[in-house]
This record gives sequence, structure tokens and C-alpha cells, in this order.
Amino acid sequence: MSSVGVVGAGYVGLTTAACLAHLGHDVVCGDLDADRVRTLNQGEIPILEEGLDDLVVEGLGSGRLRFALGAAAAVTDAEFVFLCVATPQGSDGQADLSAIDTAAREIAPVLAPASVVLNKSTVPVGTTERVDRIMREAGAVTDIGVASNPEFLREGTAVRDFLHPSRVVIGTDDSAVGVRISELYAGVNAPVLVTDPASAEMIKYASNAFLATKISFVNAIANVCEAVNADVREVVLGMGYDPRIGFEFLHPGPGWGGSCFPKDTAALLRTADEAGYDFALLRGAVTANDEQRDRMVTKVRDACGGTLAGARVAIWGLTFKANTDDLRDSPAVAIAAILAEEGAVLRAYDPSAGDAAAGLPGLEVVADAYEACTDAQVLVVLTEWDEFRWLDFERVAASMSRAEVVDARNLLDPAAMRHIGFTYRGVGR
Ligand code: UDX
Repeated sequence: MSSVGVVGAGYVGLTTAACLAHLGHDVVCGDLDADRVRTLNQGEIPILEEGLDDLVVEGLGSGRLRFALGAAAAVTDAEFVFLCVATPQGSDGQADLSAIDTAAREIAPVLAPASVVLNKSTVPVGTTERVDRIMREAGAVTDIGVASNPEFLREGTAVRDFLHPSRVVIGTDDSAVGVRISELYAGVNAPVLVTDPASAEMIKYASNAFLATKISFVNAIANVCEAVNADVREVVLGMGYDPRIGFEFLHPGPGWGGSCFPKDTAALLRTADEAGYDFALLRGAVTANDEQRDRMVTKVRDACGGTLAGARVAIWGLTFKANTDDLRDSPAVAIAAILAEEGAVLRAYDPSAGDAAAGLPGLEVVADAYEACTDAQVLVVLTEWDEFRWLDFERVAASMSRAEVVDARNLLDPAAMRHIGFTYRGVGR
């Protein structure tokens, strides 16, 4: 078993730390936020992530997981150091690497001899080299190894994705370092790909850009289906049986969002641009995604009889997808903002968005799905929370001033909704 330091206790860092402790390693996870460190040491986790709280409690109980203030405190005795800091989108589309640079400078002087620094944050090609250079300039011992080790975690299933990944990707020019990192993942049953750092970094961007393009593609197909009276759900079913296509990531909806796809597609476009390549295909996927939001607004406007000014609209779902409390780059939030701009009076319910949602401008957040619908002309389903399927739609219809529903996630059963008296508008059907 190895000693591991994790820098950053956000989604990725916390999941990495708790899962590595679960696999038997001795883990210290460092964060800049003193409050966060204190509450984590008490076993309270600041995010909604299935199974993560149990693993944190397990790790604290066994003594294999601890939280410390600052990066240096987490890495002093570590054989392996994971950089899991935020790399938000900068103003020019390029990832903002200032947190990575700061962390690299901070840990350099205290790294143990022969330790390996792995970057898990999503970073542009070339960042492994950059981290190596910064650490050497900042006084790191000469025999440290540096590698890229991208994460492929989905919010909501991050623990499962870490412990049962589709693959582990390791980017290093030093084969001995590659072997040591593979051994660190010994408890994880997945193919391990050891490659060069640039390819490892590119694998992450290419994967996310491909998935985002896949969703934009199916959204475009849905839009065509609407025009020709086809049902996109049947179309996707028929496509998915082809193993080259598969069933995953073909759910049409209001467009993709979240903390990864928007920033990663923007960063890859920027990288391609700098390399002199016009990545028109990916640019198209991004444009289609923006347009998809507008299409949802049009559906709501149509349902309101052509204008949103003064229309009372109920919204179900604000998070960027179900089973998370994350509002970052949420299509639901973006659509709500446009509806509010056009004068709609919005009342929203989300099972998990909590206080963060209460601060959103232009809408009133209520604690109950039915309450959101009182006197509304239109109900708009923007996030695919399973619990929305099982509500009493007779009661919903009775409380609304008109029974119109725009189901931007194709969550509800159109026939059942129409039977109750709703005018139903879905996506691509
Ligand atoms: C994603 C990648 O899946 C993950 O590998 C990477 O490490 C981080 O980014 P995440 O952002 O948690 O994970 O969400 P994901 O489940 O991939 O969904 C992204 C967005 O696409 C959401 O807004 C979701 O609603 C949307 N989506 C997804 C669709 O509209 N249709 C689909 O079929 C799938």
C-alpha cells in the first residue's frame, strides 16, 4: 500500500482521495478552504455524490484518510501526489491553469524523494511538461516523476466510475513511473493504458468532445424527427442495437451542460485553433447545443400562445442533470434565464439544488413540485429527476390554469399525459 497526497477536495479530489483510501492506501487530502477541511474531518461532505459520504466516513474511521489545510501539508510524505484542482474556462476559452501552477509551486519544495506527481485536473496538452518545469524551477528534488492521469468521472456516479472505470489512462515518458502508477491502481479491474503525456491529455478532451458531439447529433436528429413526424425514441432504439453506435449518450434534451463539456469543448477548440486546425465539426456541435436551448424556449413560448410576457411558468429541475446538486453551466438555469428575460413569471422546484438555486435571479424557488405548478399555464421539465415521473398529474393539471407541458427531457409518457388532458410537447416526438 502506498502513501498518497491529494491536492484539492472538490468533486474529483474528494472522490480520488476517498476511493484510494478505500483501496487500502494511506491518503491525505489537502484543500485551501479551512471550513471545508474541518467539516470533512468530521465526516460531513459538502457535495451530493452517491456513496462518497460512506467512503469518507470509512476512511476517517480506519485512519487511512485525513484532510489537511493547504497543498504542502497533504504531500510531504506522499509517494504519489494527485493534483485535483479546478481548471475553469478562462475568458478566451482556454483552461485557466493558475490553480495548477500555484499548487505545483507550493508542493515542489516539500515533495519526498522519488515521489510521482499525477495530474488529474483536465488540462490542455502540454500541462504535464509545464507542471514538471514549474516544480523544478521551484526547487523540487531531481528524481520526481510527473504524469498525466485524467479522470473520467461522471457526477452522481463518481465513486462507481472511480472504482470500476472503463479504463485507466497514464501519460508519462518514464516507463518505470508508468509501472508504479499501474500498481497504485492494483485494486481496480480495468485496462490500463500507459502512453505519452500529450496523448493522455488529449484522450480526455477527445472523449468529452466526442460525447458532447454525440448528444448534439441526437438532438439534431430529434429536431428533424419533429419536422417529419418520426419519434426520436424509436429512432435511437433502432440505432443503438448497432454495437458501433450503442445506446449510451443518445438521450435528446435541452442540450448538454455541467462543469466539463462546455469548458472542455471550448478548450479543445482553442487548442485546435492555435494549432492552425479549424475544428468545424466540434464548433458545429457547440452551436447546435446553444440552439437547442433556444428551441426549448420556443416550445415554451408556443405553449404560452406566442408570448412569454406575463406568462406563469412552472419549472421542474434546475441542476444540469439528475442526481447531482450542481448548477454549473446547467441548461435548465440558462433556459430559465431566457424565459425570465422574456417576461415569464417563473416558479421552480428542484429536489437538490437548495440554497444555490434560491439565489438565481428571475425565479422563485419553492420546496414542492406541486406548489411550483399552482396557477401556471405551462409546466416545463428541464432535468430528468426520476421522481418527477411518479407525481399525481391529475392533481398537477387541476392546479394549473392551463394544462400544457413542455417535456425537455422526454421524461413523461405523452399518451398518459394527453389522456389526463395535457397538451404535451416533448423533444423529437
Ligand atoms: C462528463 C463526462 O461524462 C465525464 O466522463 C467527464 O469526466 C466529466 O464530464 P458529467 O459532466 O458529470 O460527466 O455529466 P454527464 O453525465 O456526462 O452529462 C453531461 C451533460 O450531457 C448533462 O447536461 C446531461 O444532461 C447531458 N446529456 C447526457 C444529454 O443531454 N443526453 C445524454 O444522452 C447524456
